[in-house]
Parts: sequence; C-alpha cells; structure tokens
Amino acid sequence: MNTKLWAVDKGDPIKYSYPQIMEAASLLKENEVVAFPTETVYGLGANALSDQAVLKIFEAKGRPSDNPLIVHISKMEQLTELVDNVNVPESAHQLMNAFWPGPLTLVLPKKEGVSQYVTAGLETLAIRMPDHAVARALIETSGLPLAAPSANLSGKPSPTTAQHVEEDLIHRIAGIVDGGATGVGLESTVVDCTTETPMILRPGGVTKEELERVVGNVDVDPALFSQEELHKPKSPGMKYTHYAPIAPVYLVEGSASFMEQTIKEARLKGRKVGVLATEETIGQIQTTEIIAISCGTQKDLATVASQLYDGLRAFNATEVDVIFSETFPRTGVGAAIMNRLEKAAGHKFIK
Ligand code: TXA
Ligand code: MG
Repeated sequence: MNTKLWAVDKGDPIKYSYPQIMEAASLLKENEVVAFPTETVYGLGANALSDQAVLKIFEAKGRPSDNPLIVHISKMEQLTELVDNVNVPESAHQLMNAFWPGPLTLVLPKKEGVSQYVTAGLETLAIRMPDHAVARALIETSGLPLAAPSANLSGKPSPTTAQHVEEDLIHRIAGIVDGGATGVGLESTVVDCTTETPMILRPGGVTKEELERVVGNVDVDPALFSQEELHKPKSPGMKYTHYAPIAPVYLVEGSASFMEQTIKEARLKGRKVGVLATEETIGQIQTTEIIAISCGTQKDLATVASQLYDGLRAFNATEVDVIFSETFPRTGVGAAIMNRLEKAAGHKFIK
C-alpha cells in the first residue's frame, strides 16, 4: 500500500493546512486508516462506527483482538451517540470538565452502534477528547468519532514523531499526518468510571494527585503493582509486554556511581552497553565506549516523559546488546514513567 504523508501546521491546521486535512479526512470517511498526532503520542485512527475500518487498525498494528481501543471525540455532543448517558456517573462529568480536552481517557458504559471490535466485546467504551489541534481538526472534518490506539507496531514503544510511525507502519496504512513531535510523550491516563470509586487502569499524562483534587479518592488497579499473572488487569492492554526496544532493558536502581559500577561489570563481560538516563546521571559517568542517550532532566520529570519513547527507540539504530535505564520516583508523572519502563524491562531490576 502507498502511504500518503502530509505535513501540517500544528497551530491552526484548518487555516493553514486545509487541503491536507481534507484529504486525510476523506480517507477516514472511506474507512481507511490514518495516523495523526495527539498531545500524548501518535494515534492510528479509523471510523469507530465501522467494523471494516476498525479491523484494519488491528491488522496494521498486529494487535491482539482482545485489546480494546480508545475512541477520540472533539466535542461533547459526540458523547451521547457513544455512551449510555443515563448511566454516566457524576464523577465522570467532573473529570471531563476538569481535564478535557486532555490526556485523560474515561471508561464508560457503551451504547449500541460502536463497532464491537472497538470494545473487544466489553460492555464499556474508553473515550477521550485530545488536546491537539490536528487531532481535533481531523475528527471535525471527517465528522467521525475516531478509534485510535497508539500508532506503533504492537509491542514497540509508542510513536512520538511521524518518523516513528513511518518506521513501524509505512506501506501498512493509508496515510500519516505529520504535525511534529507530540507534547506529553506518554499515553493518556485511563480511568474506569463504571466502579463506585474511579479506578486508574493505566497511569499517564494526568496524575493520580490531579485526579484526586477533582473527585476525591481514586483507586489504582492492583494489577499495576504486580508482575504476577495472579491479578488480571482490567485494562486488557496492560497485560502485554510493551514499549520494548530490541535489546533487553534493565532498571538500575541506585546512585550514578552504582550505574557506573553496573556498566563496568557488563563491559568486563564484553557487553556493548546502552544507557538511558538523565543528563545529571550521564554527566557523572566516566566509562567511555558506551552509548548514552539522555532522557531529560531530574529537575523536571515532564521532560523525561516526553523523551522516553524516542530514547528507547533510538537504541534500535545502535548495536548495543543491553540497555541500563535510570529509575524515577513514582509520584506525579513518575508513576507513568516507571510503569512504562517496568514494562519495557519486563520488570528486570538491578539493585
Ligand atoms: O494517549 C493515548 O491514550 C493514545 C492516543 C493515541 O490517544 N492511545 C493509546 O491507545 O494509548 P492504546 O490502544 O495504545 O491503549 C489503550 C488502552 C489499552 O491498555 C486498552 O486495553 C485500554 O486502553 N482500554 C481500551 N478500552 C478499554 C475498556 N473498555 N476497558 C478497559 N480498558 C480499556
Ligand atoms: Mg499502545
């Protein structure tokens, strides 16, 4: 398949890139699959009301069919055609008012009409309103709610640039709308609002602390803390190994000098070592002949979130045979960063 590429203005795409947006929207209306930027990561969009369109997403990504998709909307009126409004709890409305548009996905009781493949047979539907002008322009111009998982091949780190999408999906999808690098860099927070107390199923761009300021107590799916199969995650996607580069990743917990010692031991065994760390840590490492990739600064974990996936992917263009990653405090956005790193590492720690 020939994949079309459109570079668009991310500030005001309707004003400055209308022909490109129109062309991408037409393909979506023809039930084709098109990748587009959101404020979190690039999404792989298709008409959420069409089985045929949604099945193409699963095919292009190689995604297991039991993993449901998030539906993206651009205005509140679209909600009523997708969810059973009568049963949407007050807490969900409070969260929408506080965080939409933004990196928050709400799991709500679904209404008939949405493709069964979107929800993977569940009675609930995950929905969010992205805070990105290009995503919203596409939804509005196509007039469709767009089902969109992250636009990576299943198992790879999510794409934060159009080039990442190309790496994974060129010739597999109808088009890619290039609106530059995304902002947050990690996927949205997924919150189940069908339970008495809202429950975080996937940590992300909106933190637990921020959610609690709006709705009081928020639970966290216990499956997020365990690596055992004992706890079955309520968000089916969380059970798969994700976000992983080709070389194995180890999480090195400790000071910069402990990182250095870990690197030295691996070098003695003849390993080609890659290091994913903040500029502070990299600045303290003396060992040469390693490939060090910076993922922002300890002073602002938002920089780490936004650079994490690009860093993980960058090792695939190198010959390293092991990757050591710095670890981060699990508060605020650190919870989402550590969740993704643990998955990329398959929970392998060096302490
Ligand atoms: O930031 C994001 O959320 C990005 C952008 C493109 O919007 N999308 C994204 O989609 O990360 P995806 O498919 O990679 O992850 C969706 C997650 C999966 O873990 C999936 O299992 C969960 O949401 N999910 C979807 N529908 C659900 C439902 N009805 N109940 C529970 N979990 C659900
Ligand atoms: Mg994904």
